[in-house]
Amino acid sequence: MKTKIELLKDKIAQANAAGGPARVESQHKKGKLTARERLHFLMDEGTFEEIGMLVTHRSTDFGMEKEKYYGDGVVSGYGQINGRLTYVFSQDFTVFGGSLSETHAEKICKIMDMAMKNGAPLIGLNDSGGARIQEGVVSLGGYADIFYKNVQASGVIPQLSAIMGPCAGGAVYSPAITDFILMVENTSYMFVTGPNVVKTVTHENVTSEELGGASTHAEKSGVTHFACANEIEAINHLKKLLSYMPQNCEEIPSNLHYTAAEEIRPELNDLLPENANQPYDVRTIIAAITDEASFLEVHQAYAENIVVGFARLAGRSIGVVANQPAYLAGVLDNHASTKAARFVRFCDCFNIPLLVLEDVPGFLPGTDQEWNGIITNGAKLLYAFSEATVPRITVITRKAYGGAYDVMNSKHIGADMNYAWPTAEIAVMGAKGAAEIIFKREISTAEDPEQKWLEKEKLYADIFANPYRAAERGFVDEVIEPAQTRKKLIKAFQMLENKVVNTPRKKHGNIPL
Ligand code: COA
Repeated sequence: MKTKIELLKDKIAQANAAGGPARVESQHKKGKLTARERLHFLMDEGTFEEIGMLVTHRSTDFGMEKEKYYGDGVVSGYGQINGRLTYVFSQDFTVFGGSLSETHAEKICKIMDMAMKNGAPLIGLNDSGGARIQEGVVSLGGYADIFYKNVQASGVIPQLSAIMGPCAGGAVYSPAITDFILMVENTSYMFVTGPNVVKTVTHENVTSEELGGASTHAEKSGVTHFACANEIEAINHLKKLLSYMPQNCEEIPSNLHYTAAEEIRPELNDLLPENANQPYDVRTIIAAITDEASFLEVHQAYAENIVVGFARLAGRSIGVVANQPAYLAGVLDNHASTKAARFVRFCDCFNIPLLVLEDVPGFLPGTDQEWNGIITNGAKLLYAFSEATVPRITVITRKAYGGAYDVMNSKHIGADMNYAWPTAEIAVMGAKGAAEIIFKREISTAEDPEQKWLEKEKLYADIFANPYRAAERGFVDEVIEPAQTRKKLIKAFQMLENKVVNTPRKKHGNIPL
């Protein structure tokens, strides 16, 4: 027994040594942690249990049978994060550059299956040179097996991907299918084809960072939901993100302990600027409504005209979608529509109630928008809200104009409770534009057209620049004093806690992609 135990210990030591001290040092020199160090920081202390530590590859081409490392470039298993069961894989760049072999893929698939069967989230820490080049098509097959399982798991368990090194070629598509991507500034990148191929094909000179670094994907493409300053920040974000989510689609997120307090927030009465055309940062309203420091913004640097993120209301996890008047007046455009639609669908998958703060002047006009499909993209948001069966509440703070009024979780598309502040303006368009169109002849033939326009603008505004027409119809359930908003929302979400919606039987809907 003693010698056998020694043999086992030796094998475990070899697995823990990864690709050897030189490669570990090189990893550290790049400012990166090793696969196991990352797990150490991610999982609750002492809870990580490794699965498949002694797996090796089966490749025999190019003398590969002589070069084997236990674990084969990925550390996988389960453990707890903030006391909750979570499955995780962490690619080990020190072993064949973390490249994905047939067996490496099998290890990932194994824990994906377990995560699905046991209904717990899956986290992937990606740091890989891509397909194991020595293995050819079996490696590509391994990727496809993972993609397929990512799709099966989508909407069943939360799937999160942190990119902590290279992630190129086919490798990008597993994270892309998962629910959230986090990237680390300066040490990670994602692209389908790298700078060399780009140069050959399009003659563009671009660095890896410019092409697919964290900031690029956070600001330009929206591929990543978070750009983190370093790996520790990314790991902390993963933990925080998970805290808003349930374990799987059959559960609801757990409520944090909350002691009921005075829920009136007088400062909300003074947050809007005097002039309805003045911008303001909607995050101040979110902060005043939700539990202190509970807002975790998603996609912060992308399509800033809409703000989305998780927050808590009296301890309950909610998803917030808010037009952002501080950026492009909060207009809906292509990127804002797809950003919000994806977030709404995530929340709906995992039983996270939705709060919409609406101050929207409409859709952004222009050839750029039309030619890039604002019709299809705007429809995504409309579709996402319409199909969502979670509790849905809207607060119209100021503008709710045109088609955007319908799209932003209006009563008509299934919102449960629709509130408006007295400052709400619910109309087909702003009074100035409306007056110009419907009183065109009167204005142009007037002695003083400017004066006439102002007069007609006021007339239109008196009728529509308020919430009362909508309230008379029941399109708005209640017009509330802003200070009451938090209190009203807490009660309404509580009232909607057991909401059940029976949807028509279908295979799946056909969201306009
Ligand atoms: N398959 C097999 N081994 C790979 C690999 C792959 N896809 N990618 C990297 N490796 C190995 C390297 O051979 C090297 O091995 P060594 O430690 O025994 O020398 C080790 O991983 C580290 O790679 P290295 O190139 O030294 O690291 P780097 O940080 O300088 O560069 C990459 C990282 C990812 C840019 C570079 O390794 C690369 O271009 N890899 C190939 C990417 C690719 O085309 N993948 C296939 C398509 S998906």
